[in-house]
Amino acid sequence: MANFNIHPGETLLEARNIKKIYDMDGKRPRGVNPPVVLDDINLKINAGEFVALLGPSGSGKSTLLRILAGLLRPTEGQVLFKGVPQYGTNPHLSIVFQTFALFPWLTVLQNVELGLEAQEVPPTQRMRRSLAAIDTIGLDGFEDAYPKELSGGMRQRVGFARALVVEPELLFMDEPFSALDVLTAANLRKELLSLWREHKIPTRTILMVTHNIDDAVLMADRIVVLGANPGIIRVELPGLPMEQRDANNDNYTKMVDLIYRIMTSPRADIASLMPQEKKGTSSKLAPVKQQPYQVLPHVAISDVTGLLELVHSKGDREDLYQLGRDLQLEVDDLLPMIDAAHILGFAEAQEGDLILTETGKRFAEAGVLEEKDLFRQQAIKNVTMLRHIVRDLAREPSHTLPEERFLNELQQHFSEDESWSQLETAINWGRYAELFSYQEERGVFRLEEPEVVAALVS
Ligand SMILES: Nc1ncnc2c1ncn2[C@@H]1O[C@H](COP(=O)(O)OP(=O)(O)OP(=O)(O)O)[C@@H](O)[C@H]1O
Ligand SMILES: [Mg+2]
Repeated sequence: MANFNIHPGETLLEARNIKKIYDMDGKRPRGVNPPVVLDDINLKINAGEFVALLGPSGSGKSTLLRILAGLLRPTEGQVLFKGVPQYGTNPHLSIVFQTFALFPWLTVLQNVELGLEAQEVPPTQRMRRSLAAIDTIGLDGFEDAYPKELSGGMRQRVGFARALVVEPELLFMDEPFSALDVLTAANLRKELLSLWREHKIPTRTILMVTHNIDDAVLMADRIVVLGANPGIIRVELPGLPMEQRDANNDNYTKMVDLIYRIMTSPRADIASLMPQEKKGTSSKLAPVKQQPYQVLPHVAISDVTGLLELVHSKGDREDLYQLGRDLQLEVDDLLPMIDAAHILGFAEAQEGDLILTETGKRFAEAGVLEEKDLFRQQAIKNVTMLRHIVRDLAREPSHTLPEERFLNELQQHFSEDESWSQLETAINWGRYAELFSYQEERGVFRLEEPEVVAALVS
């Protein structure tokens, strides 16, 4: 075994004050600030620990994993491996990605052996160890198969075998199950977990990036929740004792519920979400930093309307977890809808519930015409981008402006792609509110009813 030189609890990997800004290879126009993807991240990974990294899409999970693995350089800060600053790729670490690049012209066995060739392990030993890894990971009998003969789940197993055969001190996984269908993913997860519990996997220290709260609660000794824009650590929670990691256990349900609440309240003070007995105890709380610029969630207003109507039908207040279940939405899909309802002043997330505001109740009850009016008022009042577009259009004698005008403003705060997405969302919301029209071919905004709309902005 490669790991007898590790002392349990020893810090293996440490991120200190990591900040990451993608500099876009110098391609960004002058005066434009690229977004801060990770801001002041401090994180330790201790020997023997299974750490899960959870967070909404775009919160920088993959970026952090790559920085910790030495595949990507942070803009500021440092990564230490056993106390020594790490430069370049860490050779003591293997990574399993969402989909695994296997060499199509090599058999399963040859693909697995590759990792050991790089380490100059002699051929007979290479074969023996690879066969053992293939056996462990459940691919016995498929040694001579080629990747194209395997299902997605089996290919991912080859990926695991290739990562584990070198007996790395650290194993990183970035959404290892999310490209698989639900059943295959559940199977592989279960097997991997029991292999790890029964010490059949040589590597004890694991970092796993995941969207899935259940995965994190089932598998991890420590759960780190990231927030987005910029990516920060919102909270670190100690995982459940092994015997409580069972969907029928009370503490399991409470834990899933707590993380769900944290993720669906991106701007809430974490302490206010903690159950009473947990407050001020072992979990490490990080303050939630102010967002530098309003970030619009990319959702259709019709989805927000649907959500508000559902909550209204339940008496204007509903448990967030229950809402996710009713709508059959993963937290990642529900979150932007809640965010939109919050930005528009229609609802607030509190203590794990979504509660309609007075305006939200009126909106949910309104007929089509009143609904448009209310939406229009709320949008102008609360959505910075829409207010700016309408204000600037109202000032122009022609009541028209090219999209560049607003893209420039957005590019001060977002990457080029995200600026376009932000503008697209603003356009969709603005059209729904009938605040302006937008001509796609020419990229031109026009104020539709200058008098009506101007009165709203003044
Ligand atoms: N190479 C890159 N150049 C510029 N921006 C990037 C690059 N890679 C990622 N980003 C941006 O950095 C932010 C964080 O991305 P990252 O992939 O780390 O997030 P994530 O949490 O892993 O998201 P997901 O859950 O969707 O995988 C995103 O806004 C993304 O657009
Ligand atoms: Mg990712």
